[in-house]
Amino acid sequence: MKVDGTHYRSLWWDHDRDALQIIDQRWLPHDFRIQQVVTLQDFADAIVEMRVRGAPLIGATAAYGMALAMRLDPSDAAMDQAWGFLNATRPTAVNLRWALDRCRVHLRPLEQKQRAPAALALAHEIADEDVEINRSIGAHGLDLIRKIAAGKSAGEPVRLLTHCNAGWLATVDWGTATSPMYQAHEAGIPIHVWVDETRPRNQGALTAWELGSHGISHSYISDNAGGHLMQHGQVDLVITGTDRTTRRGDVCNKIGTYLKALAAKDNGVPFYVALPSPTIDWTVSDGISGIPIEERGEREITHVQGKTEYGGIANVQVTPDGTPGGNPAFDVTPNRLVTGLITERGICSATEEGLAGLFPDMASV
Ligand code: MRU
Repeated sequence: MKVDGTHYRSLWWDHDRDALQIIDQRWLPHDFRIQQVVTLQDFADAIVEMRVRGAPLIGATAAYGMALAMRLDPSDAAMDQAWGFLNATRPTAVNLRWALDRCRVHLRPLEQKQRAPAALALAHEIADEDVEINRSIGAHGLDLIRKIAAGKSAGEPVRLLTHCNAGWLATVDWGTATSPMYQAHEAGIPIHVWVDETRPRNQGALTAWELGSHGISHSYISDNAGGHLMQHGQVDLVITGTDRTTRRGDVCNKIGTYLKALAAKDNGVPFYVALPSPTIDWTVSDGISGIPIEERGEREITHVQGKTEYGGIANVQVTPDGTPGGNPAFDVTPNRLVTGLITERGICSATEEGLAGLFPDMASV
């Protein structure tokens, strides 16, 4: 998507430098910094420190990491070592394992001298596929928005609520939850987006930056405001992303998503999840017992980062000295609270039958 008139993906291969470039998201929305990722340790740091973040983007980054590993040493042992090293960076988003598995299955049968170019080509393919998947999710989500708009008077916006950043920054391009929003805006349908702040890392600020850059009407709201807005008829539709969705449609996403789903259910607001197929974990059924939830450092809770009135970026403490923090980074929304899943192949119920109906080729693991 565009930043100051220039089209960017969230990561890209620089052919002159022969190296991967990423947007270092730790400094957004205040500072747009590009980083070249050079060593395998750089790849791991970029994922762990959330310079790159969001399930699909983590997967694509790991695929480029495997390509680097194959340049350095194309042996089976190095491939397995890189798989383990990169897979250990973050535990919850299944796209990481999906991308690394796909690389290993593709590369293993090849001769060693073929592996480095094949791994790079595959990383490009995974990145390009992600863009197309998200474009399709947007087209299906647009149908939902269009139907809601048809019931409104001319000019009255469809009011959406989203949590975290499931935008183009979290994917290679378009975003998942935001793709229908961008496409509705392009189609001339008036929308307004309630953007959850999403403490502790405030990924909502990334969503607000994205939507603002594209002229989409939005308001940044505290994480506690969504239930109130739903009770007062101010939300027509919730769309979130997901980091891992089980074969029966339990949705793991950024911490706080579950509370939004509960409020949506209580208020009869449709709650949809934008789900690219690489985010489906066909090996797990019950999301609450089967998905590892990342526990991040307490400093993310006790401190907040922001721009100072003098323009620099600062990290300030909000708690009393010595107060311990707890920081589960994701939660699971049971499928009974999910109205539907918006995938690249269409919209289905959050059930095993729904997902297997759209993805019969993947469901038989
Ligand atoms: O911890 P993050 O910022 O990587 O978490 C991101 C999310 O939870 C997103 O909502 C999810 O990855 C979907 S992104 C298309």
